[in-house]
Amino acid sequence: MKKIKINQHVSYSNLIQGFYRADKWQMSTQEMNRFLHELVERGITTMDHADIYGKYTVEKMFGEALALSPELRDQIQLVTKCGIVQPNDIYPDQTAHRYDLSETHIKRSVERSLQQLQVDYIDTLLIHRPSPLMKPCQITDALKSLVDEGKIRAFGVSNFRRSQYELLNDCLKDDRFHIAVNQVEVSPYMLQSFHDGTLDDMYKDKVKIMAWGPFAGGRLFDKDDETAQRVLPVLQRIAKAHDTSVEAIVVAWLTRHPATIMPILGTHRLDRVDAAIAGLDVTLHDQEWFDIYTAAQGYDIP
Ligand SMILES: NC(=O)c1ccc[n+]([C@@H]2O[C@H](COP(=O)([O-])OP(=O)(O)OC[C@H]3O[C@@H](n4cnc5c(N)ncnc54)[C@H](OP(=O)(O)O)[C@@H]3O)[C@@H](O)[C@H]2O)c1
Repeated sequence: MKKIKINQHVSYSNLIQGFYRADKWQMSTQEMNRFLHELVERGITTMDHADIYGKYTVEKMFGEALALSPELRDQIQLVTKCGIVQPNDIYPDQTAHRYDLSETHIKRSVERSLQQLQVDYIDTLLIHRPSPLMKPCQITDALKSLVDEGKIRAFGVSNFRRSQYELLNDCLKDDRFHIAVNQVEVSPYMLQSFHDGTLDDMYKDKVKIMAWGPFAGGRLFDKDDETAQRVLPVLQRIAKAHDTSVEAIVVAWLTRHPATIMPILGTHRLDRVDAAIAGLDVTLHDQEWFDIYTAAQGYDIP
């Protein structure tokens, strides 16, 4: 599988595995370990986490599975996020839902992620969501010192518009540091980042794109969902023409974009992972691409 260079230290696999839903997978530590091996054997080496996944439990689950095969650590890239705060037992002072992008919180969160994942570095730390209260230079001070301490090897953002990540870039006066990736929701179900210019901005700024929710969290397959009712039949027709699956066509559609988009898979089923991987070898005709785009939009292009 193609590798995508994030910075001089970190390269991702073109398809990424997400662990947002892993607390629902009902995998034992051994099963999670097997799942990791299966992914790596298929070339999916980049694993996406966040401190809050599974109400702050998923990183630990993953760390225990990884600890069974320490040799895997250097074969994979660990991405995790911080900044969303939910009521929990870990930070008893945090009794409600908010964002905290203070230097103290970012550093504290990274220390916890390292401990939960049982590793001594994180490949990429992402700021999970922009906050109206963020002080950009406080965030970059935290990120720079985490890089200097060897605790993270790259950093980026998630769900940021250009105007928001530019605030951080203005504080990053040192060429050694840059916003490497932005993780946004994009799929044949969710076109917002096409419409609001975010994908164009990232393409121009050479910020790499991680696409979360490539199957809209499964809603793309929901027969009662209005958008799915428009998009799924088009995906099925194109899948049939290419003798492949809908999953493959979604991956082919995302990776057809001229800026490199790395879809993050949320499934725990290896048959669906394999179906998605097959999409990396499918080339859609422009018309097929637009048929999907138009179906997702719900009205014709001008
Ligand atoms: N940065 C952010 O704010 C943010 C937000 C959300 C997610 N993420 C990241 O992105 C990753 C992927 O997001 P996601 O989980 O929403 O991705 P997704 O791949 O769009 O959705 C995964 C869900 O769809 C189901 N699914 C997949 N294929 C299906 C099919 N053919 N038929 C029916 N159901 C199907 C899966 O069920 P099965 O497991 O049964 O296949 C799973 O429940 C997350 O794990 C996380 O790492 C980031």
